[in-house]
Amino acid sequence: MADTLTTTADTKEQISEKSAIVVAGLRKSFKELEVLKGIDFAVERGSILALLGPNGAGKTTIIRILSTLLPPDGGQAFVDGCDVVREAKQVRKSIGLTGQFAAVDEYLTGEENLLMLGRLYRLSKADTKRRTHDLLELFELTDAAKRKVKTYSGGMRRRLDLAMSLIASPPVLFLDEPTTGLDPRSRLTLWEMIRRLSASGVSILLTTQYMEEADQLADQIVVIDHGSVIAAGTADELKERIGSARLELTIAADGNFARAEQTLDGQDLHLDRERRLISIASQSGVHELRELLQRLEAAGIAVESVSLHRPTLDDVFLTLTGAAATPDANEGAQAEQERTTA
Ligand SMILES: Nc1ncnc2c1ncn2[C@@H]1O[C@H](COP(=O)(O)OP(=O)(O)OP(=O)(O)O)[C@@H](O)[C@H]1O
Ligand SMILES: [Mg+2]
Repeated sequence: MADTLTTTADTKEQISEKSAIVVAGLRKSFKELEVLKGIDFAVERGSILALLGPNGAGKTTIIRILSTLLPPDGGQAFVDGCDVVREAKQVRKSIGLTGQFAAVDEYLTGEENLLMLGRLYRLSKADTKRRTHDLLELFELTDAAKRKVKTYSGGMRRRLDLAMSLIASPPVLFLDEPTTGLDPRSRLTLWEMIRRLSASGVSILLTTQYMEEADQLADQIVVIDHGSVIAAGTADELKERIGSARLELTIAADGNFARAEQTLDGQDLHLDRERRLISIASQSGVHELRELLQRLEAAGIAVESVSLHRPTLDDVFLTLTGAAATPDANEGAQAEQERTTA
């Protein structure tokens, strides 16, 4: 069943130097259900990689294998240079995990949760106290520190959960859907905290169903669907795969649409005469925009508004899988807009 998990000392050294996490040919089945069909990716040290995929894609299964909670059926995985199967104990020392469902004790205060976990990790009493204090500050929970967790809001629980995963200062952090269920403002706060952690050198693997989250946070994105990697790259690279950006110009009501059309002739144009809209495939964005506006101005044509539409990751997902990534993807799939009034 299991592939042989062997590496030479050389490859191990290479792996630990460059990458915080290396996953190669990872496979897992539950009975007949093949959940991971050979997954490959690597997380560079100090970077954020987002595993992006819909419900049931296999994201949590990957996280569970990497955090040694579940043995793989085949393939290899290394965390901080250690094999997750053969060196599970070392792996556990270098990771922090925030699961999909918050793992905090409702009947303890936020502070007590942290203190208890610090002792569980066998930090000294002084270290536990100092770390607890710092983490409560970092995650803006100092005011709520002495309140029982059952009185916390969802966002506060998430932040406490994240703080708890960091009690032992792990160099590698797994975040399984860290912002699911949070309101937009709490999500922004948590994103900022995750960025700060990354800037401090922590290597982060996060899973998300939100295109925007991957776009905002990740240095690298791996898109998975039905247990396979279907695309990988930076947000920009993935967006490029589904075509270029488009500039949209709205010509003023008295701006002579027909003349605008003539002036821009020779470009790849889409026209909507009713809405007085001209849409142009754009390669260089802002530079091109300036040139177009100058041409229209020289021809005496008034432009009412200008916007630049870049493809979103939702568009990417739709193109790759033929299905929206999330049930509410239609809202998110609206082209990202940078609107300025000319
Ligand atoms: N212990 C298990 N026994 C049987 N099937 C399982 C088990 N754990 C996961 N699965 C199945 O494996 C598939 C992948 O599950 P997984 O939890 O990895 O998905 P996910 O990408 O995290 O999804 P979600 O976005 O809903 O959290 C699903 O079909 C799930 O039902
Ligand atoms: Mg999951």
